[in-house]
Amino acid sequence: MLPVSDNPSTELHKKPKTPLFFDRKSSFSSLQAYFSVYHPRTWLIISILLLQVLLLFMARSLPISISIPRNRQHFRTPFTAPAVQVSGDPECAFGKVYVYDLPPFFNRELVKNCDKLNPWSSRCDTLTNDGFGQRATGLAGVVPEDLMPAWYWTDQFVTEIIFHNRILKHPCRTFEPDSATAYYIPFYAGLAVGKYLWSNCSPQDRDRHGEMLLTWVRDQPYWNRSNGWDHFLTLGRITWDFRRSKDGDWGSSLIYMPLMRNITRLLIERNPWDYFDVGVPYPTGFHPRSDADVLQWQHHVRTRNRTTLFSFAGATRGAIRNDFRGLLLSHCLNESDSCRVVNCAGTRCSNGTSAILKSFLDSDFCLQPRGDSFTRRSIFDCMIAGSIPVFFWRRTAYFQYEWFLPSEPGSYSVFIHRNEVKNGTSIRGVLESYSREEVRKMREKVIDYIPKLVYARPDAGLESFKDAFDVAIDGVLRRMKEQEGGYKW
Ligand SMILES: *[C@@H]1O[C@H](CO)[C@@H](O)[C@H](O)[C@H]1NC(C)=O
Ligand SMILES: *[C@@H]1O[C@H](CO)[C@@H](O)[C@H](O)[C@H]1NC(C)=O
Ligand SMILES: *[C@@H]1O[C@H](CO)[C@@H](O)[C@H](O)[C@H]1NC(C)=O
Ligand SMILES: *[C@@H]1O[C@H](CO)[C@@H](O)[C@H](O)[C@H]1NC(C)=O
Ligand SMILES: *[C@@H]1O[C@H](CO)[C@@H](O)[C@H](O)[C@H]1NC(C)=O
Ligand SMILES: *[C@@H]1O[C@H](CO)[C@@H](O)[C@H](O)[C@H]1NC(C)=O
Repeated sequence: MLPVSDNPSTELHKKPKTPLFFDRKSSFSSLQAYFSVYHPRTWLIISILLLQVLLLFMARSLPISISIPRNRQHFRTPFTAPAVQVSGDPECAFGKVYVYDLPPFFNRELVKNCDKLNPWSSRCDTLTNDGFGQRATGLAGVVPEDLMPAWYWTDQFVTEIIFHNRILKHPCRTFEPDSATAYYIPFYAGLAVGKYLWSNCSPQDRDRHGEMLLTWVRDQPYWNRSNGWDHFLTLGRITWDFRRSKDGDWGSSLIYMPLMRNITRLLIERNPWDYFDVGVPYPTGFHPRSDADVLQWQHHVRTRNRTTLFSFAGATRGAIRNDFRGLLLSHCLNESDSCRVVNCAGTRCSNGTSAILKSFLDSDFCLQPRGDSFTRRSIFDCMIAGSIPVFFWRRTAYFQYEWFLPSEPGSYSVFIHRNEVKNGTSIRGVLESYSREEVRKMREKVIDYIPKLVYARPDAGLESFKDAFDVAIDGVLRRMKEQEGGYKW
């Protein structure tokens, strides 16, 4: 359900507010080192810079183009991922994956020491049930009775554990490294850094696990074949937690360590300008046990009587002036006959209350401003409830989860530029301009995509549906297969 953040209020103030700018600065200087007209990469860099300029230009011209609320635009992302045409792939057409058997220090031991993973409290409850967390309670009347066992209070930072368990049972896993297309490194980088993020720990503390891991990987015989191009891992937090460029800044510097350069990273929030960052859905509370669970849930959300036009679940930051979320809250309160607020101030939503799920199930649309970073778990809570997301920043979803969402943003979501809202555009007015039929079509699209947004409970996955994990692995294998004929970066 809602972010079960360890300590939401502290986290907020320390996160870089506009990580993009730090990052572009620092990545630019590191790129200069690569700059040489004789190197094909130079031309790639030039084209990327051009793309950035283009993007900037697009962003400038936006206010005008979106002032027509019904205008469904075709947004192109800086790097268009291959459309993942997932097919039943019993032959492993895109190759096989070899999973490194890391020393437990890098993964299982961290989970075993779950009471020491953050400075305030034990994380043992949140990491139980193979990382899915405690079984959800209090959902009677919101979730069909026989689907209750498929719901958990899942933490948002557990993809490292979920991906590890699943990949061990993947049908395309090979035990013969020579025959592999891709190599998976099951390192729990997010769990490892968690306890060092807030307290006054030295940069060395925050980087220790990552440095040791890379030293270990570099000594493996399969590393040198490709300089890491065919290696990948899951980082269970947002990319900005691993992009410290100066000692005093936030996070670990894992992604900037030289050996990480060519390794593909699966992240709940990516840097849209980094080819090696791949966005994957945040884990939600729904973990279907079978195809039948998915179908029943899709039916449930499709036939639900939605009584509210739109809803907004989030905490407002009283301390931050001009906070956009505060503005949305005020909008919602002023339109109280068509908008429902779930105010998550403090830690009121952190235990996964059923109020949030219920509110999404009852609404046609849900407002999804950026959170403390560009993305938020709530996007996925909203969509699996069959509610249509309303975005105010393109980077919140369109530039993040390309393998998992429809390629045409207007087919499943509404985009209203934040400046429009600040200038007094009525959100209600925009949403009411969609006909019942248009709303139904968009909702149908959202419901179609539910399987790709959830992480199934069985380690072997679902019978025929591809879930978020399957889509991610197919996408990575496909990419690596494509690289065999020459790097595409
Ligand atoms: C908002 O209003 C300002 C000042 O009136 C104007 O410059 C700006 O273009 C408007 N933005 C949008 C998105 O309409
Ligand atoms: C890989 O290459 C590096 C640098 O060339 C070398 O130091 C290292 O020993 C090699 N590793 C293996 C396992 O061959
Ligand atoms: C990354 O890949 C490029 C291209 O193969 C290679 O030149 C470079 O040395 C690699 N970087 C590392 C750190 O292995
Ligand atoms: C939804 O509302 C319609 C008409 O108001 C009613 O017939 C139907 O039973 C309701 N469905 C549910 C699931 O409550
Ligand atoms: C909500 O209503 C109050 C009182 O009428 C008004 O001052 C405020 O600007 C309104 N907020 C929004 C976002 O429209
Ligand atoms: C949330 O859970 C914690 C520990 O499980 C408990 O101490 C706290 O009272 C709960 N808060 C709410 C609002 O239920």
